[in-house]
Parts: sequence; C-alpha cells; structure tokens
Amino acid sequence: MSEPSGDCPLCPRLAAFRGEWRGREPGWHNAPVPSFGSADARLLIVGLAPGLRGANATGRPFTGDFAGDLLYRTLIDFGFASGEYRAAPDDGLRLQDCRITNAVRCVPPQNKPEPAEITQCRPFLEAVIAGMPRLSIILVLGQIAHQSTVRALGEKASRLPFRHAGEVQLGRVTLVSSYHCSRYNTNTGVLTEAMFRDVFARIRSLVA
Ligand code: URA
Repeated sequence: MSEPSGDCPLCPRLAAFRGEWRGREPGWHNAPVPSFGSADARLLIVGLAPGLRGANATGRPFTGDFAGDLLYRTLIDFGFASGEYRAAPDDGLRLQDCRITNAVRCVPPQNKPEPAEITQCRPFLEAVIAGMPRLSIILVLGQIAHQSTVRALGEKASRLPFRHAGEVQLGRVTLVSSYHCSRYNTNTGVLTEAMFRDVFARIRSLVA
C-alpha cells in the first residue's frame, strides 16, 4: 500500500499532533499527505514532511509551504510542471513526468520527525517507488529524505552519505541529492536558487 490511511495510527505522536490540529483548524487537511503526480512519471522527488500551515493544511506536498514557491517555480521552468502554482490544491498545476512525495507523510511537531517515525513511514516510500514502472531518477531534498530513500532502495545509509548535487546509480534508479529548498536553507544561502536550478538542469539532461 503506497498511501497511508487518513487515520494512520502507526506513529502515535504524529497521530496525536494531527488530532490536536483537527480540533484547532477543522478546515485543514490534517491527515497524511498523499503523493502528487502520476505513477507513470520518470522523476520522483522526495521531500521531508508536510509543513504545518502548508501541505498539512492544503493536502498537497509542498503546497502552501515556503519551500513550495521555489520548488514549483523550478519545476515549471524545467518543464516538469505546467500551469500556474497558486499555493492551493485547486490551482490546476499539473506535474509532467514527475511525482512528489515525502519521507514522512504527517506533519511533525517543530518540523522534526523522530528516527522511529521515519522508519515507520518508510514502507509507504518503498511502495511508491515499487509502483512506478518507468522511474529512472529520484531527487531527494535534504539529508533525512536522502537517508530514508537510500534505505528504501535497499542500501546502507552509512555507505552513501548525503552530498549536495551528489549522484549515485542504485539499480534502475539514479539518485540525485540536493539541499532541501527550505526557508532556512535559502535564507542562509546554504542553497541558492542557482544551485537548485543546476540540480534540475542535470536532471533534465538525464531524462531528456
Ligand atoms: N512541504 C512538504 O510537503 N515537504 C517538505 O519537505 C517541505 C515542505
């Protein structure tokens, strides 16, 4: 099963946090955020986890999150999305040959999932990967997504440390790693827009 149920009980801390926000914001999604995009895509992007007032509220990965502004703009520029991104799930934006998911599907307190939660959620990532017959590139955003995806692909994370713009072939998949396009990383210059675009230029050349 590649998508957790709306009331997934596997991580008690995350289920309790979701429950708390269902009470506070009943109009929000407040549930595991499903993957976005077709299973026929060749590119899969793996983020960390939904942001509280972004993907957790809207129900679409990165949608309404600060990180989504840069991510969706770049996807449109490189032909991996079409339409207009207006930070809402009904904005009509369509992914092209691309799918987006998260290493952890539920919003974690303080944006920090615990190691046990990352492990608990990994079978969903494994199922997403297994259910994409044409998959050839996985772009991981940040170290946690990198480690969880390396493990989902059956490798030891210690053997393949995270490196920005790193690239490794694992079976049928080329794993490309980038610093996460978070507000913190872009505000501090850890990740510039030019660095992020370079990663996408490389991916575009790989799936041309
Ligand atoms: N929103 C997401 O859906 N994932 C992230 O990693 C960050 C923001």
